[in-house]
Amino acid sequence: MNEMIRDISIPNDWDRSGLPGWCYHSNALLELEKQHVFREHWQIACHVSDMPEPGNYITLDIVGERALVLRDQDGAVKAFHNICRHRGSRLVADESGTCRNALVCPFHGWVYNLDGTLRGAARPRSFPPMDKNEFALKTIECEVWQGFVFIRFAPGPQPAVAEMMRPFEAELSHYRPAEMVPAGEIHTQETPVNWKSVRDVDNEGYHVAMAHPALQDLYGSTYYDEPFVDGLCRSFATVNPHAGRRWSVGRYVKIAPENTALPEHLRKAWIYFGIFPNAVIAVTPESLQFYQEFPLAVGRTMLRSAVYRYRDETREQTAARYLAARIDRDTQSEDVQLTIWSNEAMTSAAFAGFYLSDLEYGVRTHHDHLRKVLPVMTLAGAPEEGGMAAVNAGMANRE
Ligand code: FES
Ligand SMILES: [Fe+2]
Repeated sequence: MNEMIRDISIPNDWDRSGLPGWCYHSNALLELEKQHVFREHWQIACHVSDMPEPGNYITLDIVGERALVLRDQDGAVKAFHNICRHRGSRLVADESGTCRNALVCPFHGWVYNLDGTLRGAARPRSFPPMDKNEFALKTIECEVWQGFVFIRFAPGPQPAVAEMMRPFEAELSHYRPAEMVPAGEIHTQETPVNWKSVRDVDNEGYHVAMAHPALQDLYGSTYYDEPFVDGLCRSFATVNPHAGRRWSVGRYVKIAPENTALPEHLRKAWIYFGIFPNAVIAVTPESLQFYQEFPLAVGRTMLRSAVYRYRDETREQTAARYLAARIDRDTQSEDVQLTIWSNEAMTSAAFAGFYLSDLEYGVRTHHDHLRKVLPVMTLAGAPEEGGMAAVNAGMANRE
């Protein structure tokens, strides 16, 4: 049966209005969000299996920063700024790859060891003697939890990842997520909306019945959302064994094998673990995935996601995973359209704010978390763009 893993009830009387429209198209607010919402909060960079061997790396260009996550010679996962200490060139250009036992900057050829220390500058006699630690790559805070590699560019209000994620620990560990392997590459795509419009759509299941016929068929009547509390939310659904009005859903229900490694109540579950500000880890009985979004500009967002599978999956599990991916693909393109329609309204003078259902309480609680980080978002009208940071700082100090 569906079980809430935390006891969370919706208050009787809550403000149903959501963030004001100006928050979705202010450049000054976006700059504050980049720092306080993104750089100061944990971000999922990848899964350990995306870089199984020493020298494997992935890169991530987000919110004005460039991260390089690699596996060093000892097998440890490390994160550095992908910025050469000479003149700042990126050290590796690809989104993923392998370096042998050193990183060679493509600009002038400075060489770094995989632990980040400087092995040597090109033409070293043209410089005074250089200390390998002083000129080491700048590190980024990095923590591996259940196989997921989290990075954080700057200290922030969240505790260590393991502590932050503790409410999900027991349930997620049933899936042995750290042992899973990539089912494909990390996928990115751009969408023409503010990042919050993506999250607003993802944070509620009220739209599933209308907008996602396949999901509604698959699990609609069982789906429920837990709101954000302490930076985490969770949605849980159980596959209907009689579903099948849609071809992909019917095949999935028929083919998906019983995963006897899971406890009984999870064998038909599709669970979404939300992590403030911008990520979800999702499981089905045959797959694991993460998806997240990063702002590129006020009206442009990068969607990033990856799917993982059991290393020893059976043919039935492979087939079920393909069908689940097909259902997800339909769902995602439906969501992309909804985010566009919602986001477009924000610049209209006629837009009077949201009026949220109890079933959209997750949207409200996500906004509450944002307002806590950036109190300026509580203002109904936009402050002057040039004064945004000062107004926010003044409000933060009063709290
Ligand atoms: S910028 Fe890297 S070697 Fe010059
Ligand atoms: Fe959706």
